[in-house]
Amino acid sequence: MTALRAPKLPPVFGTDHAEGSSLGKLHHDAEDCRRCDLYRDATQVVFGEGPKDAAVVLVGEQPGDHEDLAGRPFVGPAGRLLDECLHEAEIDRSLCYVTNAVKHFKFELRGKRRLHTRPNAGEIKACAFWLGGELDLIRPSLIVALGATALYSLMGRSVGLTKRRGEVLETVTGTPLLVTIHPSYLLRIRSRGDAAEARRHFISDLEQVKSYLPRQEQ
Ligand code: URA
Repeated sequence: MTALRAPKLPPVFGTDHAEGSSLGKLHHDAEDCRRCDLYRDATQVVFGEGPKDAAVVLVGEQPGDHEDLAGRPFVGPAGRLLDECLHEAEIDRSLCYVTNAVKHFKFELRGKRRLHTRPNAGEIKACAFWLGGELDLIRPSLIVALGATALYSLMGRSVGLTKRRGEVLETVTGTPLLVTIHPSYLLRIRSRGDAAEARRHFISDLEQVKSYLPRQEQ
């Protein structure tokens, strides 16, 4: 009996994902995205960045204020914290591809401030088209879901983050998916002791990433 080949599905909703010869081409195409309304108020699309053959893809929620202006993922306060925690877990961010489940900043205006608003299921699903395209080109050995939005996008359904945190699940393509929190959660903890403990926990989740990366030169 011939072995069944795994279907070439994105690890996200349905089979419909962006197709392109390169990440640069997908990025270029995403600049004209009208799959949901978030493009209207955002400054620009914030596409993923990192090596095209990265063994590990880190997926956040959506760009924040800083990312929206810079056009790059995870460059604001949550990104700096992510960098510090990756460093403490001895993971080189430059070896990872870093992206988001949703590629436009969703916010609410309060005076002059743009306050982050969580993307809804329709927006996450619409943008899974691009995430699926990125993952299909990169074919990583591990995907890391940073928070509930990424987890929802990557599993295509609600999965309890608190319950599954620290576990490696399997997406429909068979690609392992590490479940952890979003770094911005750490920024919201008021008690210093709790924040330090939560940070240690996050770093210990990230330490699992190391075994999926090529061995780094000493
Ligand atoms: N939060 C995210 O989820 N992604 C970013 O790029 C920045 C903050």
